Amino acid sequence: MQSIVPMQCLQREYEADKETFLSVFDAVCSASAFCDGDFVRAFEREFAAHLALRGCSGVNSGTSALFLTMKALGVGRGDEVVVPSATFFATASAVLMTGATPVFADCDARTWQISPESVASLLTEKTKLIVGVHLYGGAFDTNAIGKLAGEAGIPYIEDACQAAGTKIGGKRAGTFGAAGCFSFYPTKNIGAFGEGGAVVSDDEALIRRIGFLKKHAQTPDGDHLELGFNMRMEGLQGAFLRVKLQSLDRAVERRRAIAAYYRQAAERSGALRYQQSLPGTEHSYHLFVVAPGSRADFTAYMRDRGIETAVHYPIPLHLQTAFYGGYYRGALPNAEALCRRCVSVPVSPLLTDAETERVYEALRDYRGASPEES
Ligand SMILES: Cc1ncc(COP(=O)(O)O)c(C=O)c1O
Repeated sequence: MQSIVPMQCLQREYEADKETFLSVFDAVCSASAFCDGDFVRAFEREFAAHLALRGCSGVNSGTSALFLTMKALGVGRGDEVVVPSATFFATASAVLMTGATPVFADCDARTWQISPESVASLLTEKTKLIVGVHLYGGAFDTNAIGKLAGEAGIPYIEDACQAAGTKIGGKRAGTFGAAGCFSFYPTKNIGAFGEGGAVVSDDEALIRRIGFLKKHAQTPDGDHLELGFNMRMEGLQGAFLRVKLQSLDRAVERRRAIAAYYRQAAERSGALRYQQSLPGTEHSYHLFVVAPGSRADFTAYMRDRGIETAVHYPIPLHLQTAFYGGYYRGALPNAEALCRRCVSVPVSPLLTDAETERVYEALRDYRGASPEES
């Protein structure tokens, strides 16, 4: 029986550096540095330096990073925040958590990134913030979104949860907007051994405010000045992430090499569309996503070849039950078409060459209907 080509290789990642991880675990436990503390401080410094930014605040998830950034920027009840519809739920649930209203933008038909034209059509005097998402590890058009935000006199932030290692004009994604929000969920390009996230920015006052809000808005003398939250990063995660950061760029290079190979296969198939990158940007391939004419047909075909697939994401946010009705401003045809067809295939840097070869051959030989024919 043939082995399965897995979507994730978390166990392999652990085994590859097990001794280091166990010694890091011992160091954190020996120091009892479980919540926040020196290991998190060191990771914050190292992650900020990696991005060539002045500030980083480690938090307990990407969702918290988004929520705290919005709170720190003063987003709240009565405000509108423009977000893409084709993204993970948390980009918009973080808006709801502040009391503001998410307003959904369509994506571009080729890059699948937030469409500046769609954003422009949604701006009102109530718009307080634009959130761009570097979807799947590709880059959204920070120039165009930055220009729109500037003209409207509001900030924009980058949801870089899928974009560790992505570059725009040689600079790292997450460093262009008022702040960048990262997730360190275990499957991300740099993943913790549990939940984790970070907010990064050159605005040190913003980073300090996030540091205050994530620790119950508490002063050194024990007064709580407002509603704060417990959204600190755990010491163990900070310590593991310091190890992972050292190999991030190497792992992303391997993702890029695998993706380049798969793109050739998709071209040769002729029945599969894949995400296009904007000129001057370097995709980090958190996910390699294809769009066949029929998702059911393609996933069954891959299953027959022993290759796992996943769907990111089956329902655009403007049609999610949690949002539908309140924030729906009309059809978003590109986001709906993407969510109807998208299929992610294995692109982990720890796949063996034999495994990526099997994915390559399956993509190359796929002869189902193309999106244009279906
Ligand atoms: C685009 C995007 N935004 C936000 C999040 C939320 O991150 P977390 O799962 O760490 O809360 C994720 C992670 O899944 C994501 O992919």
